[in-house]
Amino acid sequence: MPAKKKQQTVTEQTAEMKAVPAAEAAVEASKVGEIVVAPKKKILFVASEATPFIATGGLAEVIGSLSKALAKNDELDIRVVIPLYSDISWDYRNKFKYLGNIFVPLAWRNQYCGIFSYESDGVVFYFIDNEYYFKRPGCYGYYDDGERFAYFCRSVMEIMPFLNFYPDIMHCHDWQAALASVYLKTIYCFRPEYQYIRSLFTIHNIEYQGKYSLDILEDLFGISNSWKYLLEYNKCINLMKAAIECSEKFSTVSPHYAQEIKEPYYAHGLDPIVRRNEFKLFGILNGIDTESYNPETDRSVFSHYSAENIEPKKRCKEELQKMFNLPVKPDTPVIAVISRLVAHKGLDLVRAVIEEVLRQDVQVIILGKGDSAYENYFTDLARRYVGKFVAVIAFNPDLSRKIYSGADLFLMPSKSEPCGLSQMIASRYGAVPIVRETGGLYDSIKPVGNGGNGYTFANYNAYDMLYVIREALNDYNNREEWQKLVKRVMSVDFSWSRSAKEYEKMYGEMLR
Ligand code: GLC
Repeated sequence: MPAKKKQQTVTEQTAEMKAVPAAEAAVEASKVGEIVVAPKKKILFVASEATPFIATGGLAEVIGSLSKALAKNDELDIRVVIPLYSDISWDYRNKFKYLGNIFVPLAWRNQYCGIFSYESDGVVFYFIDNEYYFKRPGCYGYYDDGERFAYFCRSVMEIMPFLNFYPDIMHCHDWQAALASVYLKTIYCFRPEYQYIRSLFTIHNIEYQGKYSLDILEDLFGISNSWKYLLEYNKCINLMKAAIECSEKFSTVSPHYAQEIKEPYYAHGLDPIVRRNEFKLFGILNGIDTESYNPETDRSVFSHYSAENIEPKKRCKEELQKMFNLPVKPDTPVIAVISRLVAHKGLDLVRAVIEEVLRQDVQVIILGKGDSAYENYFTDLARRYVGKFVAVIAFNPDLSRKIYSGADLFLMPSKSEPCGLSQMIASRYGAVPIVRETGGLYDSIKPVGNGGNGYTFANYNAYDMLYVIREALNDYNNREEWQKLVKRVMSVDFSWSRSAKEYEKMYGEMLR
């Protein structure tokens, strides 16, 4: 019988934690009665957002769902730390437990840091509270974002003694968390309690690197100029570069993207750094939370269905058409685009050929917000193609689920895509993906012609995309075959089960 510890509270667990390297601790496994129980591997996710508390994109979903998937493994103690933004709803905040406060040094500053915690699905979440930095609408886009996230990362390091929790692995995500691994390498690893912490840095999108002027290194980040060589890149501070240099390993959210970012086309200037550090790079494909994204139980959809019983999906489509004042036509294919409206999502391709697409018997729905150039273009197009084209300029998770469930096809022609979750969610709801073969899209969607689960094209070219859209529309007319395809698409397993194991393996290797 596998030995299981009784459920402990956060405080009981933290009280037990000591700064002992995982490997050593495993050997000296503690004894509970006669049964030997290996201590859990302690993993701390450092990130700027996490579902269900706060989300602006895929990063939050991955932090929320990967941590939950990993916590199912009894050998892991999974914790997550994020800032306490004022946008986190009071429904949650009222349930958070106040653990106490400390003061955090940031160069010459000494800033308040309140610490809250909340347990959900076996994961302990910590929230860093400082109203000066985080009591603002939204998460990013402020003139002092560099300082805000430097403070956040410094707080992450400083709360460890307070919690008496020193992780075996500190897993930092994207540039906002990059400084945590830099602080570990330049300041904290010289202190005995921190010396065994290993750091892993995951790139969710290499486009956003956190670049700042070099002269703020000491005054703002509180890092001595003698470490400048770690952070400097192209005459500025580049936080993503620094995290790549300082972390034991770094990763991307799909294997294909790990290859792509060695090339200038994808790396936004960082390819020489990636190539130089290639020996410690790996890629693991994201998964999705298949419990939350489940058309059989999803409360947002108009009618529940599954791969075994696709029939009710017809109602989802009908209600969707009604909702957007589109003619209710069961045999007219509905193509959906749900995306941030930014250039790397391939919207220039959509813009180039959408009117040609709309000449066919088809309805197109776009949901998203982003650059005003795209927002204005699609809003205008919707005025010109009433009854055929709908644009909803918003970030709306509930509506997106209604669209996934009502759509027949899902278009995602990204110029680059570190992983992409939407194509997986679309598949789960039986909207057949049309994607460009890049990053995680390449890893998750294989061409229908070869028995795969979607329509794909290789070159970033609008007419190549148009070609596969036409192929899909053509296939759609063969209703019997189409039903089989939808079933096949819905049956692909995009849950975290496989990828979470790959992370576990990677953590294990790092601790060996
Ligand atoms: C970023 C990437 C996206 C990825 C997500 C989660 O938003 O652009 O491709 O799926 O992070 O890792």
